[in-house]
Amino acid sequence: MNKINIREIDVERKRVLMRVDYNVPLTSDGQVADDTRITATIPTINYLLNKNASLLLLSHLGRPKGREEKFSLKPIKNHLEMLLGKEIHFVEDVLSEDTLNAAQSLKPGEILLLENLRFYPGEEENDANFSQALARLGDIYVNEAFSASHRAHASTYGVATIIPGYSGILLEKEVDYLRMVRDHPDEPMAILLGGAKVSDKLGILDKLLPLVEIILVGGGMAFTFLKALGYRVGRSLVEEDKISSAKEIFTRAQEMNINFQLPVDVVVAPSISEDVAVEVIDAKKMRNEDMGLDIGPQTVKLFSKELLRASTIFWNGPMGVFELTPFWDGTKGILEAFKSSDALKVAGGGDTLSAISKGNATSSFTYLSTGGGAALEFLEGKELPGIKILQSREE
Ligand code: 3PG
Repeated sequence: MNKINIREIDVERKRVLMRVDYNVPLTSDGQVADDTRITATIPTINYLLNKNASLLLLSHLGRPKGREEKFSLKPIKNHLEMLLGKEIHFVEDVLSEDTLNAAQSLKPGEILLLENLRFYPGEEENDANFSQALARLGDIYVNEAFSASHRAHASTYGVATIIPGYSGILLEKEVDYLRMVRDHPDEPMAILLGGAKVSDKLGILDKLLPLVEIILVGGGMAFTFLKALGYRVGRSLVEEDKISSAKEIFTRAQEMNINFQLPVDVVVAPSISEDVAVEVIDAKKMRNEDMGLDIGPQTVKLFSKELLRASTIFWNGPMGVFELTPFWDGTKGILEAFKSSDALKVAGGGDTLSAISKGNATSSFTYLSTGGGAALEFLEGKELPGIKILQSREE
């Protein structure tokens, strides 16, 4: 990576503004449900504190509309304190003079966490004044939020136009592994996609076509494709405005001789709940009342066979509503295939990492990326704004 890493910089007694991505799943009572993205930043935090820097942590959580308490970073503060075994200062009003004073009076070895930056419209608008308000809090900036680097927001981009920005230890590792997948895939390469966000992933999938031999689509995404191919999908999740793009991508993939597989059977249920009765049916014979919530056993077999044929695999997005027992089997079955595969296996995304840890399959992967959308955009060959803006080494 041609970006200067924070380890190459003298951070002694500096106030380091570090963008992390603590956008993690929370339980219904507001506890951290999966802390992979938090623990991934601990080595960098410890490194900087041991070098006598003081640390200001910046993050977003979710997609709040203004200041919504359920998106507060307070539970993250408590969790991080528990992980680090030390007290962390916290400020609720990022823009106040008190926050500036708190930042300026931080001592080497101390940490200050700022409240969710998306409570301020200036964050996502990459507003110059908001960027300035953040930048004045620190001497230097570190991007340790690979998974948010595809966003050109104030805390991922704007700040680094004002104070010098460097790559974090984790960010560099993320880029190195994903570059390995993107630039040197042992063939055949397979991409396994699931999850619900069709609109986030369709464009990327289109760009990935020249890179892959096998595409497997499960999870909520699959129903937009099934509908695009003319099948009834009942009450399953469908992004109506993406149907024609889904059809185009499927057709183009076939013209390119890519093996593009969709579910052949699905688990359907009348509602999304823990104790609901489920049924496995043919994916081409869904009824109006059916809601598809997981891939079925025949699809697990089909996808597993393709995954075991691949030498490089990238996976983003679970195969169903894996958090609930009735819809866990599809993702669990796919994890079994990963356990038996010798391929270079990289997976990314918050839900995907949660599913992998639920299936005790962490050690079956070559690398687990904290990035979902960011990892896909990187693989597609895009220069991510949050990385582009960092200081480069002289060529
Ligand atoms: C993610 O979870 O992919 C990142 O935190 C980015 O979140 P966003 O899609 O809400 O920008």
